[in-house]
Amino acid sequence: MTYARNVWYVAGWEMDLAVDTPMAITILNQPLVIWRDGAGDVHALEDRCVHRHAPLSLGRCEGANLRCMYHGLLFGPDGVVSEIPGQEKIPPQARVRAYPVMVRHSWIWVWMGDPSLADVALIPPAVGYDDGDYILGHGQLDYDAPARLINDNLLDFSHLTYVHAASFQAGPVFAQSLPVIEPLARGVRISRWTQNTPAQRARSAPELYDNYMCYDFLLPGVLLMWSASYAVGTAVALDFGVPDKGAALTGLNHTSQAVTPMSDGTARYFFNWGPHRAHGDVAMRDGMMALAAQAFAEDKVMIEAQAKVIARDPSRPIMPTAHDRAVTLFNRLVERMVAQEA
Ligand code: FES
Ligand SMILES: [Fe+2]
Repeated sequence: MTYARNVWYVAGWEMDLAVDTPMAITILNQPLVIWRDGAGDVHALEDRCVHRHAPLSLGRCEGANLRCMYHGLLFGPDGVVSEIPGQEKIPPQARVRAYPVMVRHSWIWVWMGDPSLADVALIPPAVGYDDGDYILGHGQLDYDAPARLINDNLLDFSHLTYVHAASFQAGPVFAQSLPVIEPLARGVRISRWTQNTPAQRARSAPELYDNYMCYDFLLPGVLLMWSASYAVGTAVALDFGVPDKGAALTGLNHTSQAVTPMSDGTARYFFNWGPHRAHGDVAMRDGMMALAAQAFAEDKVMIEAQAKVIARDPSRPIMPTAHDRAVTLFNRLVERMVAQEA
């Protein structure tokens, strides 16, 4: 299973990264140590001391530097060793790989490919706590399954009817209708109107709406979605086009989600969700996060079980259905990138 490298991967939540406290995460089988220094700058190095391969994540922050706490080599944020206790001369190979790292939209992003190609403009426009319009909660979930399977899951919401029968309660009509799918330069846009139905998360309420949802699924595995409820008739009035967020009657909300491949068979799933300030409050946010916890646990059960079945014989081909169009488009995009990088 292969993934693009010249992309930004989410490594964690910036608020979980305390000053002077190294954090370890493996991305694409590369162990990384990430830390924030007293000046607020965030750095990422290979988590393997050049001396005798102790993890630098067990090290100590000293200003902008990180000291290996086995025998005391001192690493700069560029990965170059500046001090070897008991030895004057620093050999040229006394260095580890440094990774470009950025903090944006509440996430720590690491560039896993060629550092000279790292471009901040390629960070997906997620909505984090820096956006005051939404009241967000956040969480993360570790998977014993390849990231690729989680991406596939997020690119085909027909599973809402089945996997999430208990949580999201999308109903059979949802899986029977196909969304609108548009290829994007760096992903896929998936949108749909559901006419004359109760609002999302209020399935038993008597009021009916035209409900709209739209998400971009972007490289390397980032989902950015908003949805809202409109007056019945809006979908037809707009000829099933894109509505104005400001015209929503109720339920305007946003979620940002990121899937990071840790090893070939493990992944970390990061997510936030919450209502627009004009459409909800902290209590609503907490209700949504509880629903998300239930729903994402449902996904995890299915995807981890699926991963075990696939691992028994990975050579067997899948059989795509009409709902797999976005899955296929996105995976082709990844395959093209991987081929270009090779
Ligand atoms: S292993 Fe890091 S200083 Fe020895
Ligand atoms: Fe799901």
